[in-house]
Amino acid sequence: MDMGALIARLPKVELHLHIEGTLEPEQLFAFAKRNGVALSHPSVEALRAAYDFHNLQSFLDLYYQGTAVLQTELDFYELTMAYLERVAAQGVVHTEIFFDPQSHTDRGIAFGTVIDGITRALTEGEQRLGVSSKLILCFLRHLDEDAAFATLRQAEPYLDRIVAVGLDSSEVGHPPSKFERVFSAAREHGLLTVAHAGEEGPPEYIWEALDLLKVSRIDHGVRCVEDANLVARLVEEKMPLTVCPLSNTRLCVFPDMRAHTLKQMLDAGLKATINSDDPAYFGGYMTENFTAVQEAFDFGPEELLALSLNSVEASFLDAGAKARIT
Ligand code: ADE
Ligand code: ZN
Repeated sequence: MDMGALIARLPKVELHLHIEGTLEPEQLFAFAKRNGVALSHPSVEALRAAYDFHNLQSFLDLYYQGTAVLQTELDFYELTMAYLERVAAQGVVHTEIFFDPQSHTDRGIAFGTVIDGITRALTEGEQRLGVSSKLILCFLRHLDEDAAFATLRQAEPYLDRIVAVGLDSSEVGHPPSKFERVFSAAREHGLLTVAHAGEEGPPEYIWEALDLLKVSRIDHGVRCVEDANLVARLVEEKMPLTVCPLSNTRLCVFPDMRAHTLKQMLDAGLKATINSDDPAYFGGYMTENFTAVQEAFDFGPEELLALSLNSVEASFLDAGAKARIT
């Protein structure tokens, strides 16, 4: 059987995608020109050549620099629409998108400008492209608790457009415990919770995300395999892990795809899913991520379908919508 053809046909659900990480260099230059923003790289090619990362922070430094070109509601709309068009062509039927409001509000962009542009595209994407979606507000963990609370307050008028809060940015040194109270406040508002944990940080951060932040999914979580008791708990609770294979190799979490722990995770009974994280920076969207793991582990139809099904089950869709995908 042709695995490429199967991957192309597979109904895909994306659960770990930073909308700011879909900003392709060409679009970044176009927005910079439209908004009169000076860039530190002279050309699209020079910028792309700089995407040579050695860890999470080396990526984040460029990622936050890139956000400077996003200024108007139209920018956020076009950014989101371009992502939806690309993934609709790859067979993505549902996507749950992170956004980092603090990376914009700290530059003087209004929270409403950001969320209005993103959600206008999400509504159009559902109607015109048939891609359903949900939106997850991420707190930047390198900033303090007060800043996260201020962001939650800014989000209050828009809570009907947000399904969950998440936690991203520089992991090591910023444990989930730092955000226990703001996550509790978010849950009191009726929001679900997720958190990046165990990407570069230790298994203890995954325990904290479960016990203190009461997450419904762990984002990344690949370092869970270092702790057998943690793996047992994650299996027992059927806790989804949103794995991002190309991200992990591009950020040197693993030296190459064959060294990735995905297969070990699936063999242990963990509910791993495949996602693209920041596709404009890491060399691919959903299809490229599926293809990379299929080739590295020689996955057949059984594994590919299991991965696809894990994502449907782990999504925040209701039971009826899940049944319509499978
Ligand atoms: N922000 C965008 N991508 C991220 C990642 N992979 N880890 C943490 N924060 C992020
Ligand atoms: Zn991420």
